[in-house]
Amino acid sequence: MKVLIVYASKYGSTEEVAEAIAEALTARGKHVDAHDAATAPSPDGYDAVVVGSGVYVGSWLKAAARYVEAHAAALRQRPVWLFGVGPLGAENPQPAEEPEQARKLVERVGARDYATLTGALDRDRLSLVDRMIARAVKAPDGDFRDWGAIRSFAHGVADALESDASAPIARGASVAPSASTLGGRS
Ligand SMILES: Cc1cc2nc3c(=O)[nH]c(=O)nc-3n(C[C@H](O)[C@H](O)[C@H](O)COP(=O)(O)O)c2cc1C
Repeated sequence: MKVLIVYASKYGSTEEVAEAIAEALTARGKHVDAHDAATAPSPDGYDAVVVGSGVYVGSWLKAAARYVEAHAAALRQRPVWLFGVGPLGAENPQPAEEPEQARKLVERVGARDYATLTGALDRDRLSLVDRMIARAVKAPDGDFRDWGAIRSFAHGVADALESDASAPIARGASVAPSASTLGGRS
């Protein structure tokens, strides 16, 4: 089973989250390709797709949002999971609410789930503008990524794919019509 992971990351923390998801899915026997959204291939040829982005001022990074929009039709035809990396803080990560965009993205591609995963912020690496925004919203400095939660999201994806594969409807496209269907036609 081939799984495509597409991510957008400004300072690298989402890229590392994508790598951890790839590792967990690979350990579950999936063939995984992970790509930056700016250069990612189309979903064609993949059985499932996971798309994620760092969240900035309530929005996904443009490359990830553009990928979802550009490939919406192909994404709708296969199982898709989305994740956003953003809230910061150890005790009570903020902002607590999912970005408004999350619901729209889920609806656009019929995603199975949207996971909000805590992120990381290293003030010293931020651009001047980002540093000013981070200061204005009092964003805490530190790495708050929860690798257990990241792995459990990945295992949820693997569980769902395995349960799809063992369901009769997914096993064969040529399922014989049931007697009641045939009866209805006569
Ligand atoms: C300028 C700035 C704005 C941010 N805005 C949000 C936000 O609106 N919501 C959120 O959940 N996280 C926000 N964050 C936190 C980032 O999403 C978090 O640091 C994430 O791990 C960054 O991912 P990246 O390293 O892949 O770019 C913001 C961070 C910065 C620096």
